Amino acid sequence: MLPPVIVVFMLISFTCGENPAVQVILTNKGLQYGKHVGAGWIQDTLEHVTLPDINGDVLGIHYTLTGITITKCDFPEPSLEFKQDNTGFKASISGLSVALTGGWMTNFGIIHDGGTFDLAIFTMDVTSVVELGKDANGHLSVTSVSCDAQVADVDIQFHGGESWIFNPFVEHFKGRIKSEIQSTICPNVKESIVNLEHHLQAMNVSFDVDEDFAFALPLTGVPVVNASSLNLGLKGEFYNIKTHAEPPFEAQPFTVPEQPGYMLSLGLSEFTVNSATYGFYSAGWLQTLITDSMIPSYLHVHLNTSSMGPYIPQLPKMFPGLLMNLQVYARQVPMFSFQPDVVKLALQGAVKAFAIQTNHTQTPLFKLNVDSNFSGKMWVAGGRLKGSMALENFSLTLAASEVGPFKTDTLEGFTRMGMKFGLMKLNMELDKGVVLPRMRHAQLVNTVLGVEEGFIAISSDAEVLTDFH
Ligand SMILES: *[C@@H]1O[C@H](CO)[C@@H](O)[C@H](O)[C@H]1NC(C)=O
Ligand SMILES: *[C@@H]1O[C@H](CO)[C@@H](O)[C@H](O)[C@H]1NC(C)=O
Ligand SMILES: *[C@@H]1O[C@H](CO)[C@@H](O)[C@H](O)[C@H]1NC(C)=O
Ligand SMILES: *[C@@H]1O[C@H](CO)[C@@H](O)[C@H](O)[C@H]1NC(C)=O
Ligand SMILES: *[C@@H]1O[C@H](CO)[C@@H](O)[C@H](O)[C@H]1NC(C)=O
Ligand SMILES: *[C@@H]1O[C@H](CO)[C@@H](O)[C@H](O)[C@H]1NC(C)=O
Repeated sequence: MLPPVIVVFMLISFTCGENPAVQVILTNKGLQYGKHVGAGWIQDTLEHVTLPDINGDVLGIHYTLTGITITKCDFPEPSLEFKQDNTGFKASISGLSVALTGGWMTNFGIIHDGGTFDLAIFTMDVTSVVELGKDANGHLSVTSVSCDAQVADVDIQFHGGESWIFNPFVEHFKGRIKSEIQSTICPNVKESIVNLEHHLQAMNVSFDVDEDFAFALPLTGVPVVNASSLNLGLKGEFYNIKTHAEPPFEAQPFTVPEQPGYMLSLGLSEFTVNSATYGFYSAGWLQTLITDSMIPSYLHVHLNTSSMGPYIPQLPKMFPGLLMNLQVYARQVPMFSFQPDVVKLALQGAVKAFAIQTNHTQTPLFKLNVDSNFSGKMWVAGGRLKGSMALENFSLTLAASEVGPFKTDTLEGFTRMGMKFGLMKLNMELDKGVVLPRMRHAQLVNTVLGVEEGFIAISSDAEVLTDFH
């Protein structure tokens, strides 16, 4: 009974796979740059590495090779390519030659002997194919599919001690030494891939933004690899750590245009931004109380029933000389929508006004619905993300009144003016922009940003900083 249920469940979870809200695309240009940096790093590292000791017995003599270091390494540029049929990469290096030096010791009964040796390994060819996948928790996974290693020749010279006795035998054992070296390469390659896999498993797929919110970035599906790119689809959702409530809307599918001229592309769906506004809204953050004391004194206005006289003539008569409070809140989740070259924001807010009686009781006066639509632009200039916002449509309507009807036109005009002033201040900040995120060892360069239908597309090159090592 159980197996068919599992099959059905798996089919459902496959067919109802959620759409990624964030897509990260590595192009072949990015892959080649990464390979070049990686190869340089490996070459530098090899020059400082001390290899583990080698012990063994030959003809009843116990030997140890110790303190083995690399003296010279001829490290040709490796090749690294996307492999569509394996959903992964193929890495190969051809013609790698290494010269090593170290000390040797032999024990034959009570006779101890020792000296130094030089070892040269000529023309190693190594090819490794790895497959990328996704584990149950949305981590990227990497597994070795195949590995092949060939060593063309080795040369070994012993110096010191009684080495003149056994140096002639070395030629005889060369074949065995060569195949032993050859047989250690692939297990080492596979071990590094297993280590990398452990690192990937240990990585967080969710990051705390602050104590209330986290950003979830697990993979939503297996990586997609073709001859020219690798595409990772990530969930990209902000959520409230306590409630973990899913927003009442879903990420829509989108396709980031291929940009082979850049190393990386990033697609960010409007879902990501809206999941954040949903989180703020449902956490009750999108509300505030405006009191008289919050109004800057240089404005020479007070939030009281007499100063509302020009807009609501009956108010100062019904409630003379009382201070007021305004409760401002979002009536619905503010929604961003991305359209070609423009970011739209729809804000549906409300203002509830109260008179504060001398005994501190708050008497409700009226409620206004304030609906505004904004349109904005976003761009990248001088390594900074900049933007601008404009008020597109604005309406203020009376939703309820305890003081009888009144006309809202003058109040609307006044509020619109206030909003335009606020936008002017905001635009000054947006024009200064924010610096693009920068990692400790790498930064983004040549970044371009475009707003498309439903998502923002960012394409960029990366630059590994020279103090990387
Ligand atoms: C993963 O997240 C947890 C808590 O959110 C944090 O304590 C831990 O340090 C993170 N680990 C890494 C590797 O970032
Ligand atoms: C690879 O996939 C991307 C989408 O991820 C597509 O735009 C591109 O044309 C594909 N390239 C090839 C060579 O199939
Ligand atoms: C109400 O505000 C007006 C100016 O806005 C001010 O002249 C007046 O003193 C205020 N009244 C009270 C009771 O705060
Ligand atoms: C406060 O004063 C108002 C108006 O004078 C009155 O209607 C209300 O009942 C009073 N509330 C309390 C709790 O005394
Ligand atoms: C604001 O935009 C939304 C859609 O984005 C639309 O439904 C609404 O009518 C607009 N409101 C105003 C006041 O223009
Ligand atoms: C603003 O919204 C109102 C309805 O709320 C609509 O009649 C009007 O056409 C809109 N104006 C613009 C410029 O979109």
